Amino acid sequence: MAEPLPWRDAWHVALYGPEGFYRAADGPAGHFATAAQGPLGEVLAEALGGLADREGAVHVVDVGAGRGELLTALRAARPDLGLTGVDVVERPGALPDDIAWLRSPGGAGLPGALTDLEDVLVVANEWLDVVPCTVARVEGGRLVALLVDPVTGAETPGPPLGADDAAWCAAHWPADDLPDGARVEVGLARDRAWDDLVGRVRRGTVVAADYGHTRGNRPPGGSLVAYRAGTLVDPVPDGGCDLTAHVAVDSLTADTVTTQADALRGLGVDAARPSVEDARTDPAGYLAALSRASAAASLLDPRGFGGFAWVARRVGAADWRT
Ligand SMILES: C[S@@+](CC[C@H](N)C(=O)[O-])C[C@H]1O[C@@H](n2cnc3c(N)ncnc32)[C@H](O)[C@@H]1O
Repeated sequence: MAEPLPWRDAWHVALYGPEGFYRAADGPAGHFATAAQGPLGEVLAEALGGLADREGAVHVVDVGAGRGELLTALRAARPDLGLTGVDVVERPGALPDDIAWLRSPGGAGLPGALTDLEDVLVVANEWLDVVPCTVARVEGGRLVALLVDPVTGAETPGPPLGADDAAWCAAHWPADDLPDGARVEVGLARDRAWDDLVGRVRRGTVVAADYGHTRGNRPPGGSLVAYRAGTLVDPVPDGGCDLTAHVAVDSLTADTVTTQADALRGLGVDAARPSVEDARTDPAGYLAALSRASAAASLLDPRGFGGFAWVARRVGAADWRT
């Protein structure tokens, strides 16, 4: 047993404190698969290179870059682009020398040096879902903040929500019709983190890709879950597991919100399999094309990565080019 803390505080220490989960050597890829890793990351990187061209960006910044998996794929695909990774750890040893790296405080905090970005595409793949937020529960018809024991994960009801969190809920996730016991993940911390990131850009495009929900499909029991070594575990904020909750994407200030599948199709990602004829004439090329088609299919799968929300914001230019 330990002193119960508001979920948002316990969550932040568990992921980004001195012994935080995301500071561990194995990195996110040691615990779960994302669209930025392996063959999927290669296809995603090519698509992002195309997006950078379309948006007139000559530099790509990856916020929440893990161990630089996506940037390494991007470097292989696009030697001409400037690349910068931002994450809470020191520069990964295997990162190609010409990729810059900034160390970040983590969660809603961003490094001071990330500022005045120009002609840039900023990408945040699965960042906002790990920005800790207030977790609330309906008790006696009103929302209270949930407290959590950082050692056991046991939850207790805390005080009524603060004014800003309460106003966000009233606007985006009202509790009026929710039964006692229903949970609400208050998106204000994500909205502010997103605004902060967008505010670092003078001219460019910012894209967040994440698990999301909108007013019509909020998760009634909340979506806070934990992963350790590829397995779903109880959400205990003890630094031993990832803690993630889906993002209320409709409360983020954005120019467009679309699905990842639609966004990637628009960038030319195509899951068509190569012709078997190719296997005879160019077996290695055939296998590479098959692997690529399979990765593209995973990225486009509406029940998986294709169902992610792509939230985009353009800064300092006239319009969002589609
Ligand atoms: C779910 S992982 C995703 C990693 C990678 N983008 C991918 O898709 O494989 C979230 C990553 O965001 C990083 N992160 C969290 N808050 C951050 C912040 N404020 N600045 C930079 N990185 C952050 C974590 O350390 C972690 O590496």
